[in-house]
Amino acid sequence: MAFLVSNTMTSPALMVLLCCFLLIANGAHQSEACYGTNQKLQSLQVSAPANQPYLTSYHFRPPQNWINDPNGPMHYKGVYHLFYQYNPLGPLFGDKMIWAHSVSYDLINWIHLSHALCPSGPYDINSCWSGSVTILPGDKPFILYTGIDASGQQVQNLAMPENLSDPLLKDWVKFSGNPVMTPPNGVKDDMFRDPTTAWQAPDGRWRVVVGGQIDNEGMAFVYWSWDFIHWTKLDHPLYSVQETGMWECPDFFPVSINGTIGVDTSVLNPGVKHVLKTSLFSDKHDYYVLGTYDPQMDIFSPDTDFHGNSNDLRYDYGKFYASKTFFDSAKNRRVLWAWANESDSTQDDIDKGWSGVQTVPRAIWLDKSGKQLVQWPVEEIETLRGKQVSIHDKELGSGSIVEVSGITASQVDVEIDFELPELEEAELFDPAWVDPQQLCNDKNASIQGRFGPFGLLILATEDLTEKTAIFFRIFKGQNKYVVLMCSDHSRSSLKEDLDKTTYGAFVDIDPHHGKVSLRSLVDHSIVESFAARGKTCITTRVYPKVAVENEAHLFAFNNGTQSVVISSLNAWNMNQARLSEEESFKL
Ligand code: FRU
Repeated sequence: MAFLVSNTMTSPALMVLLCCFLLIANGAHQSEACYGTNQKLQSLQVSAPANQPYLTSYHFRPPQNWINDPNGPMHYKGVYHLFYQYNPLGPLFGDKMIWAHSVSYDLINWIHLSHALCPSGPYDINSCWSGSVTILPGDKPFILYTGIDASGQQVQNLAMPENLSDPLLKDWVKFSGNPVMTPPNGVKDDMFRDPTTAWQAPDGRWRVVVGGQIDNEGMAFVYWSWDFIHWTKLDHPLYSVQETGMWECPDFFPVSINGTIGVDTSVLNPGVKHVLKTSLFSDKHDYYVLGTYDPQMDIFSPDTDFHGNSNDLRYDYGKFYASKTFFDSAKNRRVLWAWANESDSTQDDIDKGWSGVQTVPRAIWLDKSGKQLVQWPVEEIETLRGKQVSIHDKELGSGSIVEVSGITASQVDVEIDFELPELEEAELFDPAWVDPQQLCNDKNASIQGRFGPFGLLILATEDLTEKTAIFFRIFKGQNKYVVLMCSDHSRSSLKEDLDKTTYGAFVDIDPHHGKVSLRSLVDHSIVESFAARGKTCITTRVYPKVAVENEAHLFAFNNGTQSVVISSLNAWNMNQARLSEEESFKL
C-alpha cells in the first residue's frame, strides 16, 4: 500500500497519527499467521516433564519452551504488558522467533495471552526479533520491532493494537507498509536491530535508536520521524565505540538527578541525566554509561568513556542480558526487565523442556553520587513474602557458620545487614586487581582473608558439599577502602556439565561507616543478589544436585580472621506467583 503521508509532512501530530492508524488497520491481521490456528502458548497443551527442581516459582516465565529478551514492556490503562522473545516450538532458540504476550495488574501475577507477533509477511517471515513500545499521544501504543525478512536481512517494522478499547490489547496488526527501516549503506544485513522506545525532542520530531555495528565499531544509530512511519537516518550515531562489536538491545532514557522518581522517555530538562545501555554481543553483558543528551545535535556525550570492559558500569555483573526499561506512569518509576539465560547444558534444557526466565522487575534510579544507577526489586515482590525468620545482633567469629532455619531455603527472600568493626587492619588492595571477577576467582569463599569472605551460603546442602557463596571482602586501598562482592559457583553443584563461572564486582561504598548489606532473592535455579541496597547486583543460575526443594539450606558465614556482626537478618518464604493462561484467570 502506498504511504498516505509524505516525508516532509508537518501537519498537526494528531492528524498524522490518525492517518497512521487507518493505514495500519488496513494491514494483515496478525494473529492468523501465528502457527496455524493455535494462538495460545502451545506449551500450555503439553505437560512439562515431571520432577522439575529448577522450575522457578515467582519469576516470570511461560510454562515451557525457550524465552529470551523482554520486549516492549509498558503500563497501559491500568495493565502491565510484557512481550518477550519466545520459541513456541521448543526449549532452544529457534529460527522463527515470535513475540509472546502476557499481562499483569501487579508485575507479579501474569496472564499469558495469545501471541502478539509471529512471522507472517515478507518483512518478518524469518522471525520477529526484539523491539520496543512507544505510547504516542492519545494513548496509542506502537510496536517497533526487528523482522528477519525473506532474504534474511534485519529490518524494522511497525505494529499496533487492533482494538484500542480492549484493555488487554490482545490482537496486534502489522503496518502494511513494512518495513519502515532497512539496513543503511555500509551496514551489514545482520547488524541492524532492536529499536528502542522512541522519544520526542523539543522540535516535535520522534527519535529512535537502533543497535548496530560497522566494522568492529558498535553503535547506536539514530532515526527521526514526524509521523512515526517515515524514518530518516541521521549521518552520525547517537554514540559509538570502536572495537566493541555488535550493540544489541540498546536502551536510552532519562533519569532524575535528584531522587528515585522515574521520568517518561521524552522528558528533557536540567533535572535529568541520560542513560545509554548496550547489550554487547561479544561478551553477553549489559553495560551502561551516564551522560548528557543534546537534542539539537542528537548526540550523547558520556560523563566517562566507555570501552566495553571490566572498568565499565554494568546493571548486573552476573547472568543478565538484553534488558529493557519502561516508565511506569502508575507509580512514577522506571522499571527494568532482563533475560536470565540458563547455565546448564543444551541436553539439560531439552530434558527440562524450557530455557530462560525474566529477572524480577527492578525499579532503577540514579544514585546520589550521580555516578551510577541503583536497582531494587519492585515493592510488589514483597506481597509474596510469607513466613518470616529473623536473627539480630549475632557475632560471627572467625570461621563461624549460622543456619537460617525454619524457612524453605529454595524459595526465599533474605536481607542481611553486617556491622563491621574497625577496619584499620584490612588487607592491602593491590592496584593491579582491576578485574573484580578475576579477583573473586582467585580468592574464592574457601580462602581466608581478614575482613571476609563473609556473607550467605545459598542453595546449600547441610554438609556444605553444595553451596553458592555470595560474599564480601574488604581491602584497604590507597585513599579508601575497597569492597568486593563475589558470587562463587565453584561448589554450587555436584552436577558436571554446568557453567560454574564465578562472578564479581566492586561495591562503591565507604565501609568505614560500619555497615554493608546484602539481599538475595532465591527461586530454585535463580539467585538475584543486591549489595548495598542495590548499588551492585549479581544474578546467577544455580542447579544443585542435592540442595533442591526441602533439601536446600541457607547459612550466614564468616571465613575472615576478624569477626563481623549480623546486626539484622530477615528471611521470608516466598509464595508462588500466579502464572496462568487467559481462560483460567477471570478479570
Ligand atoms: C539479544 C538478541 C537480539 C535479537 C533477539 C533475537 O538476545 O540477539 O539482538 O533481536 O535476541 O531473539
